[in-house]
Amino acid sequence: MDLEDNVFMLPGPVKIHPRILRVMSKPSVAHRSPEFTEVIGDIRDLLKYMFDSDNDVALISGSGTAGMDMAISNLFGKDDKVLNITNGKFGERFGELSEMYSNSVALDFPWGKPPNLEDVAAELEKGDFKGVTLCHNETSTGLTNPAPEIGALAKKHDALFVMDGITSIGGLDVKLDEWGVDVALMGSQKCLGAPAGISALSVSERAMEESYDDASYYLNLKKHVTKMREKSQTPWTPAVPLLPALRESLLMLKEEGLLNRIGRIAKLGQATRAAVKALGIDLFPEREYASNTVNAMLYPEGIDDSFRDILKKKHNVIVGGAQAHIKGKVFRIGTMGVCTFTDLMACFGGIESTLKEMGHEFEEGAGTGAIVEYM
Ligand SMILES: Cc1ncc(COP(=O)(O)O)c(C=O)c1O
Repeated sequence: MDLEDNVFMLPGPVKIHPRILRVMSKPSVAHRSPEFTEVIGDIRDLLKYMFDSDNDVALISGSGTAGMDMAISNLFGKDDKVLNITNGKFGERFGELSEMYSNSVALDFPWGKPPNLEDVAAELEKGDFKGVTLCHNETSTGLTNPAPEIGALAKKHDALFVMDGITSIGGLDVKLDEWGVDVALMGSQKCLGAPAGISALSVSERAMEESYDDASYYLNLKKHVTKMREKSQTPWTPAVPLLPALRESLLMLKEEGLLNRIGRIAKLGQATRAAVKALGIDLFPEREYASNTVNAMLYPEGIDDSFRDILKKKHNVIVGGAQAHIKGKVFRIGTMGVCTFTDLMACFGGIESTLKEMGHEFEEGAGTGAIVEYM
């Protein structure tokens, strides 16, 4: 089958709308030209709309991890204590980065469970933390972490709050200013449905003041923010062909309206959970914390990861597997960006057929039937 026929339901990268693909076929432009400066200026303003904050923006030609690296390396040095709250792969990545650059204290919670806020508070009481990190939407487990509560605790202890919003910003209800987030991150291939390779940071005044001048040359936070603020440019050559595509994806977000987008994604996420429930499949994370941008499900008895191969080969439906100790036990469905109910129906048509072939017992049509209720 043709790649273009795929029903692409990964938790990122996600489906790219043809409108965005068309923009990428344009000829090259000089990155310091007035035309391109306008593209970057538009991106900055549209990113502020997406972040829903007037804080400064840094635009990086690098995937989400480059943004995480920039945040941690610029804000925290070897003598700075950083509390890393982890309950999944991406929270752990902040921990690994903090170990490399700073004095990391990791507070690990089981995957699929929210952090215990009393434990977080008790750790912070020990004092002297310059920062707290949290992955708001743990893509690895399909769990949305309680960011407002963690933000309040960080504020109480005067610590910088660094939040990975790579699969939440532009897809879930996020209030950076209200939650006191000093640095938040987004990644182009997730909630925007743009090509992979770009990340951006929303940076508070305090984060600018407290970042180090000489922590990194290429990923220098102050240089990026200042150049963006004053000149609508990036310090170095950006990924030129990707940026018009990013702008288009941001324009599509603005045209839909941030709140409308969040509402639509919420319905898709809820419909996914209703569908799997109807098929007798359990969620991996605690239901109350289940994410609307990515749902993670436990394979039912007798079904293994060959499910995803059959789904792909026979039905052209691509869903995500899992990592680390839950690899082979969990599959994930992303409903970000321009994902539609038609995509979700096609996805569950394939899922039902595959489950039937693999011997799972369920009422045929129950999954797709449950989705119709949300359309
Ligand atoms: C929540 C979260 N953080 C960080 C990353 C890493 O981003 P990237 O793979 O773009 O470097 C991902 C990617 O899946 C993610 O979902």
